[in-house]
Amino acid sequence: MSSAHGSYTTQNKLPADFAWGFATASYQIEGAYDEDGRLPSIWDTFSKTPGKVEDGTNGDVACDSYHRTHEDIKILKQYGAQVYRFSLSWSRIIPLGGRNDPVNAKGLEFYSKFIDDLNAAGIEPVITLYHWDLPDELLERYGGALNQEEFVADYANYARIVFKSFGHKVKRWITFNEPWCSSVLGYNTGKHAPGRTSDRTKNPVGDGAREPWIVGKTLLIAHGTAVDIFRKEIKPTHGGEIGITLNGDWAEPWDPEDPADIEASERKIEFAISWFADPIYHGKYPDSMVKQLGDRLPAFTPEEIALVKGSNDFYGMNHYCANYIRHREGEPEPDDAAGNLDHLFEDKFGNPIGPETNCEWLRPNAIGFRKLLKWLSDRYGYPKIYVTENGTSIKGENDLPLEELLKDDFRVQYYSDYIGAMADASAIDGVNVKMYMAWSLLDNYEWSEGYQTRFGVTFVDYENGQKRIPKKSALTLGEIFNNHVSKE
Ligand code: NOJ
Repeated sequence: MSSAHGSYTTQNKLPADFAWGFATASYQIEGAYDEDGRLPSIWDTFSKTPGKVEDGTNGDVACDSYHRTHEDIKILKQYGAQVYRFSLSWSRIIPLGGRNDPVNAKGLEFYSKFIDDLNAAGIEPVITLYHWDLPDELLERYGGALNQEEFVADYANYARIVFKSFGHKVKRWITFNEPWCSSVLGYNTGKHAPGRTSDRTKNPVGDGAREPWIVGKTLLIAHGTAVDIFRKEIKPTHGGEIGITLNGDWAEPWDPEDPADIEASERKIEFAISWFADPIYHGKYPDSMVKQLGDRLPAFTPEEIALVKGSNDFYGMNHYCANYIRHREGEPEPDDAAGNLDHLFEDKFGNPIGPETNCEWLRPNAIGFRKLLKWLSDRYGYPKIYVTENGTSIKGENDLPLEELLKDDFRVQYYSDYIGAMADASAIDGVNVKMYMAWSLLDNYEWSEGYQTRFGVTFVDYENGQKRIPKKSALTLGEIFNNHVSKE
C-alpha cells in the first residue's frame, strides 16, 4: 500500500512520564444492544432509519466487545498499551435515562468488572461518560439536549451514579466526546443522531436555525455540572482528573499571504474548538462567533459561566487532519445556522494537504497537528493536553485481501509522522502534552459510514467469529513510542 504522505522525522522526545494507549466508544464496539436490560439509544434508532447510514448497518453486534472484554484486554496488553479510553453506555446504566428512572445493576456490574480487569492487567482506564449514545427515551420525553434544564439534571444524575460507583478505581474522566459533532452533525447537517437539520429550507419551523447553538450550550452546562459534582463529591476522597474532549482539525489558510484567508482559518478553528474551549478557559464565547451569530448564540448567565469557567483539569484533544480554508465573500443568511457554519470556503480536494483516505473529511498532515497543539497552548495558557484520539482510515482498505490489509503501511506512516510531530510540539514548542490514545484499538462501527471504513489497528473479522487480528500498525506503535519517549 502506498504511503504518499511525506515522513516527519525528529530525534526529539516526549517526557518520560508520557503514557499512550488506545480509544474506543460504546456504541461503536459493544454490540449486545438488547442484553441485560439495555434499551435503545438515539443511535440505535437513527442507524435503523433507512438512508441514514451509508451501508445500512447498525451497532447491534458491532465488535461484540460486550462479550469479548478479555480478548480486548489481551490485545491491549500484547500491544503494550498503558491506557485505554472507552465510553460507558448510558442506556446500559439507566436504560430509560432519567433521574427518576431505575438504575440497571447489570449495566454497572459489566463496567465494574471491566474496569477491575483492566486495572489488574496494568492498563489504566480512561472513561468517557458520553460518546453520543443518549438514551432514546430522553429524546422522546423532552427533546434531549435541546432542553437544557432536563438534560442537565438527567446527565448530572447519571454522572453522579457513575462517579460513586467507579470513582475509587478510575482516575481520569471525560465528560463529553466532541460536543461539536453532537451539535452540528446531530442538529445542523443531520448526518448523526438524532438527525435534525437546522437548514431553514429543510426545517422551516420553530427554532431550527438556533438548534446547534442551543445544544452546544446545553452540553457545556452539563459538562460544568458534572465537573462540579466530581470535584465536590469524589475528588476530595479519591483524587482524579476530569475534562472534556473536543474535536478540532487544523485549518491552513488557502493563500498564506491573504489576510482574509488567514482570518477565515482562524474563524474556522474558533467555530470548531473555541465555541467550547473559550467558555471553559476564558468564560465567554469567541468574538468571531458573537459577531457572526449575535443573539442567536444562547447567552450564559453569570452562574453558568462560573460553573463552566475553569472546568477542565486537562484538555482532551481529538485530532485527525488539516484542511485548507479560503474566505468567502458576502454575508450568510442571518437566521440560517447551516449557512453560518459554512461561511468559510474549504477546498480539500483541489489543493490537497495530504493524500486521500477512506473518509471524505480526512487528509493526513502531521505538521498541522503540531501547529494546532501550539495554537491551543497559546490560546489556553499551556494546559495539560491529552490526545484522546488520533488515527486514520485508508482508502479502499475494506476491499483489500486480508494479507494486504494487515500490512497497513499507510497507517504506520501516519502514526509515525503524527507522533514525531507531537514530540517536536513537546520538546521545541513547549506544549504540555502527556497522553496519547490512538483511534482505534479495533475496526468498528464508523457511525454514518458504517463498517466499510476501518480505523482500527486491529482487523475485526465481522463475518467470521469477530476474530481480532493485529495489523502492522498495532505491532509498530509500541516501537514508535519507545523511540519517542524519553528514558530519563
Ligand atoms: C471521532 C469520534 O469521536 C469517533 O467516534 C470516530 O469514530 C472518529 N472520530 C473517526 O471518525
